[in-house]
Amino acid sequence: MRERIDYVEREISEIVISDMQGAETFRIKYLGSKGVLKSLYQEFKAVPNEEKKEIGQRLNDLKQRLENVLASVQSNEPEKHSKYLVDFTRPGRSTPLGSIHPLTIVRNEIVSIFSTIGFSVSEGPEIEDDWHNFSALNFPPDHPARDMQDTFFVDSSIDGLSLRTHTSSVQVRVMETQKPPIRTISPGRVYRNEAISARAHCFFHQIEGLYIDKNVSFADLKQTLDYFAKSLFGESAKIRLRPSYFPFTEPSAEVDVSCSLCQGDGCNVCKHTGWLEILGCGMVDPNVLDACGIDSKEYNGFAFGMGVERIAQLKYRVNDLRLYSENDLRFLTQFHF
Ligand code: DAH
Repeated sequence: MRERIDYVEREISEIVISDMQGAETFRIKYLGSKGVLKSLYQEFKAVPNEEKKEIGQRLNDLKQRLENVLASVQSNEPEKHSKYLVDFTRPGRSTPLGSIHPLTIVRNEIVSIFSTIGFSVSEGPEIEDDWHNFSALNFPPDHPARDMQDTFFVDSSIDGLSLRTHTSSVQVRVMETQKPPIRTISPGRVYRNEAISARAHCFFHQIEGLYIDKNVSFADLKQTLDYFAKSLFGESAKIRLRPSYFPFTEPSAEVDVSCSLCQGDGCNVCKHTGWLEILGCGMVDPNVLDACGIDSKEYNGFAFGMGVERIAQLKYRVNDLRLYSENDLRFLTQFHF
């Protein structure tokens, strides 16, 4: 019944009556003794009692509207009553705009920060072979990261083919095909065999960075990351580097950024340390350069890798990783750029 009333309302809002003949046709069709309104009132008798109040009200409104329309045309006062039944003063129906996924917003922002200083964007496949994901990156054959626990192997009959566990695999592909100087970042999705929870997921996103040239220093790395942190988190952001280990860099470091919430004073988000870990980095191990066909006696460089979810979490205070992939519109529509 509601749909029929909706339909009639829509129908009359589109009708244009241009003369008295039209007005009479309109009257017969909608208000006549065998008209639409009459049949709606017939149907109304069968409406359950608890809905009678609402639907009855709507029917009365509709009747009133039909009578007003007719009266306005019949009174023949064009300057007072428009012959159009469309109410031009009614607000228009807007087309809802989609929003951009928070991870896409963050990725675009990071890409734009690095493209300002001359980094290109490169991509690689999500299904990788052992060479690009591990061996060329100096992972020893028995390294735990190759383990079935961490890696999704695609087909056990095809040796070492797996879903990439990090975007560092793209470094290898770039170095194999390009000559230095190389300045590139590689955003993409990566996969690890983790149980899904608020803090871990079986897929997430990383952005890898690579800079290869002659005489690149650790200071260049630090300066680049400092520029990045200030561009992303604001001029007052500071970074600190802690020694770490990755097979593909030597020396390696983990990078913390000063907590933007408490300005370094200590809060729940930074667990009262004043610092938040955002990425891993280091000078590219000469073994990696040589494996990729770049002469490590002539060239050197730095690399870094960060998790996009982690940065989005810091920017938007989203502390459950599952929200990023559940497609819940209540979550997604909150993000505008
Ligand atoms: N691939 C590392 C990971 O997934 C991140 C990383 C650390 C990338 C240090 C790098 C790097 O390029 O130099 O945890």
